[in-house]
Amino acid sequence: MSKPQAIPDPILYNDWHVVCQSFDLPEGSLRSARLLGEDLVLWRLAGEAKAWQDLCAHRGTRLTLGRLQEGTLTCAYHGWVYDKDGQCIKFPSHPEQRPPPTAHVKTYRSAERYGSLWACLGEPSSDIPTFAEWDDPKFRKILCGPYVYNASATRAVENFLDVAHFPFVHGGLLGDEAHAEIQDYEVETRSDGIEARNVIVWQPDPDGTGRGKTVNYTYRVLRPFTAYFMKSTDEGKFAIQLNVTPVDETRCIGWMCIALDYSEETPDSELRAYQDKITGQDIPVVESQRPERLPLDLQAELHLRSDRIAVAYRKWLSELGLAFGTS
Ligand code: FES
Ligand SMILES: [Fe+2]
Repeated sequence: MSKPQAIPDPILYNDWHVVCQSFDLPEGSLRSARLLGEDLVLWRLAGEAKAWQDLCAHRGTRLTLGRLQEGTLTCAYHGWVYDKDGQCIKFPSHPEQRPPPTAHVKTYRSAERYGSLWACLGEPSSDIPTFAEWDDPKFRKILCGPYVYNASATRAVENFLDVAHFPFVHGGLLGDEAHAEIQDYEVETRSDGIEARNVIVWQPDPDGTGRGKTVNYTYRVLRPFTAYFMKSTDEGKFAIQLNVTPVDETRCIGWMCIALDYSEETPDSELRAYQDKITGQDIPVVESQRPERLPLDLQAELHLRSDRIAVAYRKWLSELGLAFGTS
């Protein structure tokens, strides 16, 4: 197990991040996750999800090797028993001894939203980002992922915001080389994020329904690693919120929540398979990018007018002072 780092980046340390999908953490199971270089053990008791440091207070054994019984977690090595709050309540080798308050696992805040479990390693500086369509009954919701990238979360998010790659990486689906030109679009940066409007693209198969059309995107960056788009067509609206978990500086996991208000006839499995295909096309490209950490110095790479949302993203991260996953 790698040692927990000193606070890797206060912006991210005090932010919420998805660590798993809720249905992947049934009652009675132990799961591991990794966030910002920190190993976590996840478990659920009486419906409430827990995110703890995956480290026994005795000899640093992974708690994910342990077992759950009667609302407690027992370490696999010497059997220390932890209660639901992370306090050790029993040393089996000294049953008469009352464990002191220092015999305590480090616990983190967790919350469930949009079908996912979120954790924050520090003090949350803001609420979990809003995804309005999730609470709108007109929209069908589909969860996609996990999508594992051997790449920085910054590169993965920037790829989600990039439309000029569609004809080349997603030919026949999101783009067509005969329609590669990108019209100018508007970008606005505020203190709480970025919005790009009227990004117009012709797409052969914009959503997995197989019906080609011109689409109009609105993109938003809500947090450093949470981005959103709403794609409007003559058929309806198709939105994705992408949450990228920064596992380590150059490894991340993408989770997508899709919401759409049309195409009831297309099964969830087909829409999910479509998204898996699109992301599967993106991953090798993103993993190949060098430097792996996104350069925030705008002189470090060349930018075109069609890259203006990426430029805004880099400037905003720079203003926030984000260090993790950047160079
Ligand atoms: S390392 Fe966990 S009980 Fe000893
Ligand atoms: Fe892509």
